[in-house]
Amino acid sequence: MSERSADPLQELSTNTLESYWMPFTANRQFKAHPRLLVEAEGMYYRSADGHKILDGTAGLWCVNAGHCRKKIVEAVQRQVARMEYATAFQMGHPGAFELAARLAAMLPGDLDHVFFTNSGSEAVDTALKIALAYHRVRGEGARQRLIGRERGYHGVGFGGISVGGIAKNRMHFGGLLTGVDHLPHTHSLEHAAFSRGQPEWGAHLADELERLVALHDASTIAAVIVEPVAGSAGVLVPPKGYLERLRESCDKYGILLIFDEVITGFGRLGTSFAAERFGIVPDIITVAKGITSGTVPMGAVFVTKDIYDAFMDAPENAVELFHGYTYSGHPVACAAGLATLDVYAEEGLFQRAGELSGYWEDAVHSLKGLPHIIDLRNLGLMAGIELEPRPDKPGARAFETFLKCYEDGVLIRTTADIIALSPPLIVEKAQIDQIFDTIGGALKQIP
Ligand SMILES: Cc1ncc(COP(=O)(O)O)c(C=O)c1O
Repeated sequence: MSERSADPLQELSTNTLESYWMPFTANRQFKAHPRLLVEAEGMYYRSADGHKILDGTAGLWCVNAGHCRKKIVEAVQRQVARMEYATAFQMGHPGAFELAARLAAMLPGDLDHVFFTNSGSEAVDTALKIALAYHRVRGEGARQRLIGRERGYHGVGFGGISVGGIAKNRMHFGGLLTGVDHLPHTHSLEHAAFSRGQPEWGAHLADELERLVALHDASTIAAVIVEPVAGSAGVLVPPKGYLERLRESCDKYGILLIFDEVITGFGRLGTSFAAERFGIVPDIITVAKGITSGTVPMGAVFVTKDIYDAFMDAPENAVELFHGYTYSGHPVACAAGLATLDVYAEEGLFQRAGELSGYWEDAVHSLKGLPHIIDLRNLGLMAGIELEPRPDKPGARAFETFLKCYEDGVLIRTTADIIALSPPLIVEKAQIDQIFDTIGGALKQIP
């Protein structure tokens, strides 16, 4: 990274900041106090004002291989110069087939086909559409209901927010998809606060699916979608036995189980996918983020052979699924994906994450007893630190902690009053210490 410490902000007029409507951001606060990142390498960002910032969040849960990895950067450079784009419909290019085959070889059970998208939100909407269409092509078109979960985050498409369970992401956007219901979330401060890894309490919450089946009848339900570990709502780790019971009920009633692994995929839990970590094979998996280590936007949906084959009964010259994106399997994204998988494999990064997870767990729970903390939770290289909200200003305490940590050189992420952590899988023990020392220091100062 360069040593340059000029302030590019001086070159920007206020108007330049004004035009950009920033996503999921307090725009006015940001524009009054901009935090601009201009370079990245390994575990670090460099800000426009010249500070080195340790990345405690892998960008936005995505940069699993670390920043600006040479092999990935060079693969992208080569591909963009050779063929920047190839038509995605009725045409193909080698990279998409190669990446799909490489991914299929990593998948558990009989998941073996890959549909490419450009983001997690698109992957989720694609998965929901495939689930509905699958039942229809098999003659069970009455299965139109989708079941999500409270506090679930499945991106921001209409499908994703409909099955998602975060009120603020839903309340402004009308009636959403019809025929959607929700399981209860699994978070309980009363029964599971300060659990190390998977909580002992809460497996029975999966039985709520039985109640929804009794209410709607199984013949109307297409799929259940959950994040194996809920990420964006604040790192909610599944209780022991919970996912197993969900799988059993789905099997019993012919309901497809979708794991949204946009965060948990690609090593976050010490395995390729959470499905492997928990020993449960869903019918569909959605991924994004780590598939290219955040280098180029890409998402994907993995389905079983049974699902893919169900669509292959149409006449041979007919399009089997009326769905796809201009940039599905984009050549540059595929090049990034292939190089990213190489880096993961060559450096054993998933295994590394698993080996570090004990050290990580101890570091997380070392914060117990510090001001404001009402829960600490962890799995793999994920952690949630829940703070007592200020009675009059929910979210303010965590946001001030985020600002203080940024000032002190560590990037964390907050959602309401929960700090969510997910460093690149190349993180060193000393950097783990720095992340938690910095957060601890901030919490002692924040009122
Ligand atoms: C579980 C999950 N699903 C879907 C998404 C949406 O992904 P994207 O922001 O790439 O659309 C996210 C993003 O954080 C996610 O965590």
